[in-house]
Amino acid sequence: MTQKIGVLGAGQMGAGIAQVAAFAGYEVNLYDSNEAALKKGISFIESILQKSLEKEKITADQKKATLSRITPCASLEAMNDRSMCIEAIIENFDIKKELFQKLDTIMPAGGLICSNTSSISITKLAATTKRPEQVIGMHFMNPVPVMLLVEVIRGLQTSDETFATVKEVCDKMGKTLVKGIDGPGFIVNRILCPMINEAIYLLQEGVSPEDIDNAMKLGTNQPMGPLTLADFVGLDTLLYILRILHSELGEDKYRPCPLLIKYVEAGWFGKKTGRGFYRY
Ligand code: CAA
Repeated sequence: MTQKIGVLGAGQMGAGIAQVAAFAGYEVNLYDSNEAALKKGISFIESILQKSLEKEKITADQKKATLSRITPCASLEAMNDRSMCIEAIIENFDIKKELFQKLDTIMPAGGLICSNTSSISITKLAATTKRPEQVIGMHFMNPVPVMLLVEVIRGLQTSDETFATVKEVCDKMGKTLVKGIDGPGFIVNRILCPMINEAIYLLQEGVSPEDIDNAMKLGTNQPMGPLTLADFVGLDTLLYILRILHSELGEDKYRPCPLLIKYVEAGWFGKKTGRGFYRY
């Protein structure tokens, strides 16, 4: 049974995955090629656990044990004893391909390589390795410790054993698994991104951001309005996903709103840059 997990990428998603895995009892090696990002990821986990402790959601022992199970790693060689790695690096096929090929040579035979990609073909990623049967998509939602869903995506080559192991890991992490198809946007982004895009069209047509968000919050019980959620996800990420939906599905209904493109050109990526549809 999988006990040792590697997480690649210490950004918001990677840090969240490492936290949830360690909390569930796995020994986690958290890797990032950027030392500052690795430090930031670890302090982010500490701060989230500290908040949970203050709210009495977890005990001091649980916080300590979770942190003790996470080892920050600056070298990929640390993955040489991992039976499972979850990649959560930048959404770029060539960069992921390079990482997958390195992991393929470093990890033990039979070890699983999972990707948190939200849009890249798992079949294509699997084909870059010599272990395509052990490659699978595990798409977590942001913020990972809070959101209960993991979309699990099988490539054409993924084995039943790989799927069964991932299901076991999701169960242990307290996440609900849904089976997506290996197509652009899987399930969540295929539905969510066009909805947010439509909200941006309404903004472009003159409706205020507050009215758009309140309409969807109060009218459909969403925890955040679509423009707030867009700022939270990142407008650059949203545009990237919409472009993939548009080019790969070939339908105009996925065409990114011109206003979204302008915001990204301006560097207004949302919460992370201090300005998106709102100011932070
Ligand atoms: N990391 C960890 N925990 C976090 C967090 C973070 N970044 N942000 C908030 N939380 C926790 C809080 O600590 C709090 O925990 P407790 O209930 O234990 O006290 C809980 O979440 C609720 O937070 P708040 O009370 O501060 O605020 P809220 O009630 O507004 O909830 C939210 C915040 C959970 C983010 C909520 O607004 C929400 O669910 N928003 C929608 C999120 C969503 O749709 N995510 C999916 C994005 S799409 C995606 O991820 C796919 C993709 O590929 C783009």
